[in-house]
Amino acid sequence: MAILKIQRVSKFFGGLAANSDISFEVQQGMIMGLIGPNGAGKTTLFNCITGYYPPSRGEIVFYNKRMNGLHPDAVCKLGMARTWQKVRPLARMSVVDNVMVGALCRTNSLTKAREMAMEQIKVVHLEQRLDARAGSLPIGERKKLEVARVLATQPKLLLLDEVMGGLNPAESEELIQLILDVRKLGITQMVIEHNMRAIMRVSDRIVVLNSGEKLAEGNPREIVANKAVIQAYLGESDA
Ligand SMILES: Nc1ncnc2c1ncn2[C@@H]1O[C@H](COP(=O)(O)OP(=O)(O)OP(=O)(O)O)[C@@H](O)[C@H]1O
Ligand SMILES: [Mg+2]
Repeated sequence: MAILKIQRVSKFFGGLAANSDISFEVQQGMIMGLIGPNGAGKTTLFNCITGYYPPSRGEIVFYNKRMNGLHPDAVCKLGMARTWQKVRPLARMSVVDNVMVGALCRTNSLTKAREMAMEQIKVVHLEQRLDARAGSLPIGERKKLEVARVLATQPKLLLLDEVMGGLNPAESEELIQLILDVRKLGITQMVIEHNMRAIMRVSDRIVVLNSGEKLAEGNPREIVANKAVIQAYLGESDA
């Protein structure tokens, strides 16, 4: 079943089409990779999907509900949560308090929020860091904390924007494993990533953007063999 339908979505900034007439569907339980060169429009599309910007044209449909114009908090309540390309922990708060902030989207009880937070902290393996200040964590753990905080909002669809950016190979491997663990929990994911080996490994399907337009869609094997993709993107990748 398609839980998310992107239908002819465009987003203009003045004369610039950051997203131009983009359509695709995300099926329940899958991991959809979203790739493309810098400035291709990936983050803008996440912003349109999650209510940070209204699309200029087109429709975002989530569980058959039109999402255009809804605010991010309403979008989150309906079951979408995203991480940011630049991690934004509440630096002076502890790990557990950061994750509780996510859980408070679903409950007013601090006791319940703490229980929900602990559950997600286990998923990302930060149990040893409960009372550490978020700002003091190394980057790899900050990324995991970010994932725990959005998981605590109990999303049906999780959108990860370059969650491996700035990580070394060992840390990236842990994030790959985390993404695969989250899939086992039944949560659908959209993943923006420049690390090509990682995106090919985790994605069931991949959409490629280039200059705001959808250049290709297919499974990882089809995408690596696609001449237009190779020319636009893989040819200048770090792979
Ligand atoms: N708020 C904004 N105002 C004006 N232009 C914007 C805004 N947000 C994005 N853009 C422009 O839209 C285009 C797409 O940017 P976007 O951040 O979506 O790309 P991206 O694919 O996420 O790139 P990267 O891989 O570097 O993160 C770029 O030309 C960018 O400068
Ligand atoms: Mg981006």
